[in-house]
Amino acid sequence: MAFNSKDLLGIRELTVEDINTFLDTAESFKEVSARAIKKVPTLRGKTVINLFFEPSTRTRTSFEIAAKRLSADAINISASTSSLSKGESLIDTARNLEAMSPDAIVIRHPSPGVPHQLSGLLNASIINGGDGAHEHPTQALLDAFTIRGHKKRIEGLSVAIIGDIMHSRVARSNVHLLTKLGAHVRIAGPRTLIPPHYASIAGDSAGSLVVSNSVDDAIAGADVVMMLRIQRERMSDAYFPSLKEYSIQYGLTLPRLDLAERDCIVMHPGPVNRGVEISSEVVDSNRSLILDQVTNGVAVRMAILFLLVERQTRKPAQGEAQQ
Ligand code: CP
Repeated sequence: MAFNSKDLLGIRELTVEDINTFLDTAESFKEVSARAIKKVPTLRGKTVINLFFEPSTRTRTSFEIAAKRLSADAINISASTSSLSKGESLIDTARNLEAMSPDAIVIRHPSPGVPHQLSGLLNASIINGGDGAHEHPTQALLDAFTIRGHKKRIEGLSVAIIGDIMHSRVARSNVHLLTKLGAHVRIAGPRTLIPPHYASIAGDSAGSLVVSNSVDDAIAGADVVMMLRIQRERMSDAYFPSLKEYSIQYGLTLPRLDLAERDCIVMHPGPVNRGVEISSEVVDSNRSLILDQVTNGVAVRMAILFLLVERQTRKPAQGEAQQ
């Protein structure tokens, strides 16, 4: 199993084979976190930098843990404690970090396209940890890993993605990934938070994408319900009258979940706003895989670091293009 690109910038660029390589490799790393000594020497002597320009609990921490479980050195840099606050540009910051020979840089930035910009400038592997409302590829991979672990397949599943679709990089990456793998995705939320022509982003994938008229329609018969929070940090306008009304019209409650398949699983990338997009009863119910997603994030990010950093050290196979 090998991944043949220097960087992981988005799901849109990946083939079905690439996605399965990440998921299958994560499967092999999952047991490391269950060991008494949670460490393998795979990336000993390698260096991973987490460069985060937005807050994060899950992504930053799980990349740090993933790097350490692979025996790599992990360094965390946040914008507020770096020389960016003294006027240094992002590009100069990145070039200075590159001068210290990291093998991989995980970047989260509020502007779409920043990981792509760094990709062309640096030799280190660039991993998109979330770029604005564009993509969050590592979240989509861990979501797929979680769905596949529970449902044993992705092809043919009905997946409802509900909430603030417009500002959600998680929704965009998941739509790309799930439809590539043959799932039927329905999205729903306030009309003001679903971009026009969103359904066209699935392209000519094996699966399908529809915009549902109501949350109840989207959830009816679903195998997976994925709830998204309202990204108020990306909003400059009022997209709905009040949080209370939003919660009533679009929030996931146990009665609403009864519309789905009996074995429907509930997911959420976090952070969860209990009582807004999802009730506490659903979060804490046995249908919820929200913490499983977090657990799986470590194995998936170990796989991502391994496949990208290992690629730099292996010789290309005959006929394989170096990118
Ligand atoms: N899902 C996710 O990206 O969470 P964090 O913002 O805490 O990293």
